[in-house]
Amino acid sequence: MIKKILEEHQTPFYVYDESVIKSKIKFLENLDFSFKKDFFFAVKANPNLAIINFLKKNDIGAVTVSAGELYKALRSGIDPSKIIMNGSSKNIFDIKYAVTQKIKSINIENLEEISLINEYSKEKNIITDIGVRINPGIDANTFAKISTGKSGDKFGIEIKQINFDIIKQLNNINLNTLSVHIGSQIHDSEKLIESYKTLIDLADQLNNDGFNIQCLDFGGGFAVPDNNINTLNFDTLTLELNNIMKNKKYEIIFEPGRFLIAESGSLVSKVNYIKKSGNKNIVLIDASFSEYIRPALYGISPMIEVHNIEKNNKKVIYDIAGGVCESSDFFARDLELNEIKVGDYLIFKNTGAYGSSMSSTYNSRPRPLEILINNDEFRVIRSRDTLEDLCKNEIM
Ligand code: LLP
Repeated sequence: MIKKILEEHQTPFYVYDESVIKSKIKFLENLDFSFKKDFFFAVKANPNLAIINFLKKNDIGAVTVSAGELYKALRSGIDPSKIIMNGSSKNIFDIKYAVTQKIKSINIENLEEISLINEYSKEKNIITDIGVRINPGIDANTFAKISTGKSGDKFGIEIKQINFDIIKQLNNINLNTLSVHIGSQIHDSEKLIESYKTLIDLADQLNNDGFNIQCLDFGGGFAVPDNNINTLNFDTLTLELNNIMKNKKYEIIFEPGRFLIAESGSLVSKVNYIKKSGNKNIVLIDASFSEYIRPALYGISPMIEVHNIEKNNKKVIYDIAGGVCESSDFFARDLELNEIKVGDYLIFKNTGAYGSSMSSTYNSRPRPLEILINNDEFRVIRSRDTLEDLCKNEIM
């Protein structure tokens, strides 16, 4: 199919396959949990309207972190009752927008948000459902830069800091959710279970104290394959979670982002040039960290497929670099690949999550095209920025 797309479209582009997304949804739905659960897609992983809408049609909700993501979730057709908002430093605008849209829960991450939401809800004469995101002080055993649940991290609130009695006294908020999310690319099920257990224990205790916590939001973070990354053992996770959920009546929400979308997507790029520098063979491609920043930002090594125009079996060690003016603009270093020629294609696999969503126009590069495959058809779901788009909103 990629060959067919290449006949019509210029690289670099992102391409996603609906059937892979569908298989991920099915996998999650078929997990043998003994309790009622829902899956809310973490929109930040891929906020394309077509992607959110496809998930919506498959009964997936949305978890958002800004007014913009909330707007896109609503615009994609998701019902407010299936949308949650998190956010470590929500702007007043985000909070007001979320309150007026009457979403399922605004999960607060700062104590001051409580009175902000209460005051604005009072002004609007409504009662807003809120959740509290807990920082459980757990090291998720993942990359330091995508860990969110340790003491000292900026996410959530430590239990000991929360005065739940104050929350009880406020008339325009209703605390019915507790949430936790300790990081991303988590392969260690014990860490997840530990965080879920913290939430269950706290909810039990609060409900004994007269609260009505109905929903536990267990966050996302399920790992997907990448070079050197283990995956999560879902059998162990299911078994252990069923154990700690025995006789509990909570509604459970998971917030997978990467798991639902990463493996459906590839970034397709073309080799512009190949140069020698010292003892290095550097392949320069038409993508850059403006289109895919994860290797430069986190040091991850993406899975790369080489599509040689002319087949060969010779192996060469390469560095793969992009086209922006930054020394850190590398996709891989010292990687043995089939010999590459100018005009060959490099396909970065499993880039459906945090690929296009983290892209930028740095070096005034147009944001890339996005394409969605449905069986043996494909369609553009985001056109490439035009040069004029790059000037949009600027005033000379
Ligand atoms: N829920 C909350 C509250 C989150 O903060 C996140 C991700 C998710 C759910 C979804 O996590 P996932 O299932 O996708 O791991 N840019 C980084 C990942 C940052 C994730 C931030 N929070 C990367 O490219 O690895």
